[in-house]
Amino acid sequence: MGNNNITLKHVSKQFGKTYAVKDLNLEIPANSFTSLLGPSGCGKTTTLRMIAGLETPTEGEIWIGDRMVFSAKEGIDVPANQRGIGFLFQNYALWPHMTVYQNIAFGLETMKWKKQDIKGRVEEMCALLQLTEYIDRYPGELSGGQQQRVAIARTLATNPAILLMDEPLSNLDAKLRLDMRSELKRLHTSTKATFVYVTHDQMEAMALSTDVCLMKMAVLQQYDAPLTLYGRPANKFVANFVGNPAINFIDFDVRKEDRQTILERDGHRFSARLDDGATLSGARVTVGIRPESLLVKADGALRGTVVSAFPYGMETTVLIQCMGSELRSVVFGSIDFRPGQEIGLSLADTGLCFFDPETEALIGTGDMQPI
Ligand SMILES: Nc1ncnc2c1ncn2[C@@H]1O[C@H](COP(=O)(O)OP(=O)(O)O)[C@@H](O)[C@H]1O
Ligand SMILES: [Mg+2]
Repeated sequence: MGNNNITLKHVSKQFGKTYAVKDLNLEIPANSFTSLLGPSGCGKTTTLRMIAGLETPTEGEIWIGDRMVFSAKEGIDVPANQRGIGFLFQNYALWPHMTVYQNIAFGLETMKWKKQDIKGRVEEMCALLQLTEYIDRYPGELSGGQQQRVAIARTLATNPAILLMDEPLSNLDAKLRLDMRSELKRLHTSTKATFVYVTHDQMEAMALSTDVCLMKMAVLQQYDAPLTLYGRPANKFVANFVGNPAINFIDFDVRKEDRQTILERDGHRFSARLDDGATLSGARVTVGIRPESLLVKADGALRGTVVSAFPYGMETTVLIQCMGSELRSVVFGSIDFRPGQEIGLSLADTGLCFFDPETEALIGTGDMQPI
């Protein structure tokens, strides 16, 4: 199944004067699982609908494989039903008066498939989505998760090379959502289709995707592999949006002494080292410290006071007063921290993020140690 990559070139969508999507450039690779991620209202659904052909861009070009399906300049706009795309929306509606079999067969009948081929395909889809034993049931006789699987089976039955999904799991309860995540991953592997998946849930995007496109207020912030967003966020917004519990931000004064870069705050001094030859040239820097990079250690050179602790069983999140700031740390295991307790802390020797306090852009990654 080639030809199922998607290219957006300078795509914008305006509603009146406001941009829902602004100058978006994306190269979505064939067979990828690409997520459009970002807070509510950032333009995810609009982007997906423009790819589908359900929304007309104000500007730009959209390509599916080597076929131009939209161009504002050339006046090309291929209708949705001729773009070879499957959709799955949040409010998927199954036909209540049709069985699982009939719901899945419906699209194939519309496409004038032969009866025997339809039967084979529906059975194949039911096996893939573990629905075989429910094939003669009506939607009202199925659980939410089973209904969701029927909706997916119905969409996949026509064998779309591209599958667009808009928050398809958001109506399911937490446990089911986790089950459906593994299901979607399995489906992606077995269908070899290109998945474009809209979600505002960063954990979902991180867990499922090969690539994440993170947007904020109509503008793309970063388009990278999930772990690149996590480890090398392009700016403070990305760093803060990805990861749970959230990253700590803490500002320091920067001084150069004997070719060393010294960071100072609240009477504490650190020697900073940046990766790949990056340098701190400003007088101030914002350091991003992931909770797992702030280590609780009895003999740590930093001292802190426990504000509160959240034991989740497998790990414990601790809120700590340190260097005049409240910082989050994550500790493996169920450790009983008491509010007011004094603890020692140290910083991991890699993986800190240094941001420009003015532009909020990433300067580089590296580490800093107390001196
Ligand atoms: N049909 C419309 N008319 C006017 N404004 C719209 C319309 N659809 C979306 N918008 C606006 O465009 C922005 C992006 O919306 P949307 O793409 O739905 O965001 P998301 O899916 O990320 O929550 C929002 O500010 C929204 O209010
Ligand atoms: Mg939306």
